[in-house]
Formats: sequence, structure tokens, C-alpha cells
Amino acid sequence: MNETVHIKNLDIRSGSRTLVSSVNLKVEDGEIFGLVGESGSGKTLTAKSAIGLLPENLELSAEEIITAGSNIIQMSKKEKRLHIGRNTGYIPQNTVFYLHPMIKIKNQIGDGYMHHMKKGRDEAMKKASELLSKVGFENPKNILNLYPWQLSGGMRQRVNIAMALMNDPKLIIADEPTTALDSTVQKQVMELFRGINEEMGISVLLISHDLSLIKRYSRSMAVMYAGQIVESGSTEQVFRDPRHPYTRMLIKIIPSFKIKKNEPLTEIPGYVQEDGGDGKGCVFMKRCPYAMDICAEIVKEHEEDKHYYKCNLDRGFYE
Ligand SMILES: Nc1ncnc2c1ncn2[C@@H]1O[C@H](COP(=O)(O)OP(=O)(O)OP(=O)(O)O)[C@@H](O)[C@H]1O
Ligand SMILES: [Mg+2]
Repeated sequence: MNETVHIKNLDIRSGSRTLVSSVNLKVEDGEIFGLVGESGSGKTLTAKSAIGLLPENLELSAEEIITAGSNIIQMSKKEKRLHIGRNTGYIPQNTVFYLHPMIKIKNQIGDGYMHHMKKGRDEAMKKASELLSKVGFENPKNILNLYPWQLSGGMRQRVNIAMALMNDPKLIIADEPTTALDSTVQKQVMELFRGINEEMGISVLLISHDLSLIKRYSRSMAVMYAGQIVESGSTEQVFRDPRHPYTRMLIKIIPSFKIKKNEPLTEIPGYVQEDGGDGKGCVFMKRCPYAMDICAEIVKEHEEDKHYYKCNLDRGFYE
């Protein structure tokens, strides 16, 4: 199987502070991949690295960042912009407020398409109408003539999705796409992602605090903690047989599966470490009920049948 995204050994720093370290992440062609973790764990920065959108003040190093078939690390800024613009769609965090409220939809939806695909306005409007009806609008022409402030949050998010689909991308990155929406609309939006994924074969990197959503919609997943991926694998494997104490706590302790936004997990004592764990040892040690002296020194990595976890406890520990 091919990889739509393959990040190898990603580190992100802000001066002397490590924000993301040793991240390896692979999104296979045609899958929904869920990235979960509490606030500040590095999800957004990891996703932004895959599309060359890391804030300028941060330093990135990685062996490879393959996105939509090409290693973007080797590209010039211009090449990167073109490649990303043509092949990926991005729905940033808090995008319910992303569209400019006072500019009509038709003047926002076609710009990237005309620019990257070298098409005229008529073609852009035709494509936009098709996609607006695909995302569930019965009267797309009417929508094109509205201002975003005239739409509900769910409608705006559907416009964002249509916008992300304009260039027929291979990959869509959706960062907390349903956080601001109520549960009925949340379900509609997620079903839409599922439909896009199944019918159009577009891979989706889905970032969410909501474990139940990841469980329901993604085929593979990774759990981030303090700038590192502590466990990853197929969603089925991770939920059936969680191996990292943090993942186990998330799955077992939190009945609703929801990690609250911008709040530490009260159920798990302690906070995400300020420093992503520059040095040695385990980043979760201070909150881990099984921590041993060795955890301050080193942390073992295990991988079996694509199920990865990073912990000094062996496979048999919980049995
Ligand atoms: N431009 C920046 N400069 C310095 N530090 C940053 C910058 N952007 C993010 N950070 C820090 O990097 C860490 C990871 O941020 P990131 O936005 O990736 O977290 P996240 O997992 O997406 O969190 P949330 O769930 O709240 O969106 C945080 O500690 C954040 O404060
Ligand atoms: Mg984020």
C-alpha cells in the first residue's frame, strides 16, 4: 500500500524548547487516520509540517516528509506551495470562523482553484456548485451568493469542506473539524468525511480530542503526548489492546471518550509536561502509575504488526 503522508523522525523546536520530537507518522492511501491527544500535545504542529505551513518562528528537522507522493523537505518554497496547493486540502482548527464573514462565498471558494489549476472564474463556479451540492446543499447557486455570516456553523464547515475539495486533493487534513458543532451536525459532517473518503478515495488526516469519533471513523490512529507519538496502529488494534498507560487511561477512564479542550485530564493526575521532553526517558513518567526508575533514563520502543508503542512495560505486563 502507498503512503499519502509519511513523516520520518520529525522534530520541531522553538529556540531551546522542543515542541515535537521523534514523530513518525504514516497515512496510507485512501484511509482516515486519526490523531488524538490533549491540548498542547503537538497535533496541529505535526499536521502543519506535512503541508509546509509551520509558523516561521519554529525550526523543523525531519529525515523525510512525504506528502501526496513527494518529499516536500527537498522542495523550494515555491515548489512546495504549488505541490501542496494542488494536492492537499486543509481545514484548519477553528475554521468555523475561517471564511471571511463579509466576502461572498463565491469570491472565496474559487480563488485557490483558479490560481493552482489555472482555471477561469466560470469553471471555478461550476466546480464549486457541484461540490456544494456534494456536501449537501440543495441550492448551491444560492449559497455562492451568500455571505458566511448568513450561514450556521455546520453550513460554514460544509463550505470549508467543499473548498478543500476544489483541487481534487489526494489528502485532506481536518484539524478538529467538528469541535464547534453540536452533536447532530457533528455527525453529519463526519459522515460527509466518510463519504468523501470512501467515494473519492481521498485520505483524511483527522485531528480530534474526541476518541469516540476516532474510534468510529478512522482506520488507523496515533496518540500524541507532550510532543511525541506514544502509541499508533490500526484503530482496531489500539482499542482492543492498548499498550501505552496513557492510551489505556484514555480508553478506560474517560467514559465519554472526550478529552476536554484546553483542560488537563482530571482523571489522570498531572499536566502535559511544559517541555516536550528534549532528553532521555519517558515523557509520561510523572503521570504514570507504573513509572519505574529506569523510565527517567530510557524508554523502549516496541513494534509488532504495525502496532507501535513507546514504554518500558513489556507486552505481557497487563495480562
Ligand atoms: N508558533 C509557535 N511558537 C511557539 N510555540 C508554539 C507555536 N505554535 C504552537 N506552539 C506550542 O507548541 C505546542 C504544541 O502546539 P499544537 O498547536 O501543535 O498543539 P495541539 O495538540 O494542536 O493542541 P490543541 O488541542 O490545543 O489544538 C504547544 O505547547 C504550543 O503552545
Ligand atoms: Mg491544535
